[in-house]
Amino acid sequence: MDRLNQWLRRVPTAVVWVLGALPFCWLIAQAATNQLGPDPVKAIELSLGLWGLQFLIASLAITPIRILGINLLKFRRALGVYAFLYVMVHFLAWMILDMGLRLDEVLRDLTRRPYIIVGMIGLLAMLPLALTSTNAAIRYLGGARWRSLHRLAYLAGLAGSVHFILLVKGWQAEPLIYALALLCLLLLRLPRVKIGLRARGKSRAPQRV
Ligand code: HEM
Repeated sequence: MDRLNQWLRRVPTAVVWVLGALPFCWLIAQAATNQLGPDPVKAIELSLGLWGLQFLIASLAITPIRILGINLLKFRRALGVYAFLYVMVHFLAWMILDMGLRLDEVLRDLTRRPYIIVGMIGLLAMLPLALTSTNAAIRYLGGARWRSLHRLAYLAGLAGSVHFILLVKGWQAEPLIYALALLCLLLLRLPRVKIGLRARGKSRAPQRV
């Protein structure tokens, strides 16, 4: 594991910033070349939503993964920022491409459709996280307050996966797998589990870089 961490220390965070933009660029290329199937708007919405959820789960997995001795902390900010950006563009795609900016219909959906309401809770929970993702914001808030605020990421993740469960027909495996992954990550953050795992992983987990 030491070798892996040494190698990871040499990987610049710019790599994650560049890789994170690729799904978006790929989506734009597919849209520009008419490769998104019969309903391109829906394909754009679904792809952005799914990437948003995956980045969110990846960013939440960084801390528990340290138990295995793998230190990916320096990539967490990029993953979290991308989660927010994909979800934000997902929301904008819905508002502009799907709803055609018809505010009466936007408001109707925002107040009547449970999966839209829950999705909105997720997006709103991510907003303060994105706004406080800079070093200056961390210094201003102080570590403890910043960490408490960033627990909102779990609310965003749970809202995102419930939103996914609600919008599919019946009980499909994919949204349930995301919800389960989030519940596991949440469980690992419970103080009792955290203390137990920390004791087990103490000798293996490297210190913060
Ligand atoms: C944390 C916030 C959110 C996450 C993680 C998220 C994630 C997702 C996911 C994973 C899908 C399904 C993708 C698929 O089937 O492959 C989806 C679909 C969708 N989401 Fe979101 N979403 C969020 C917030 C929102 C918000 C705020 C809105 C609009 C107000 C929204 C509107 C939609 C719509 C319209 C669909 C497509 C439904 C359909 O026609 O099948 N989402 N979202």
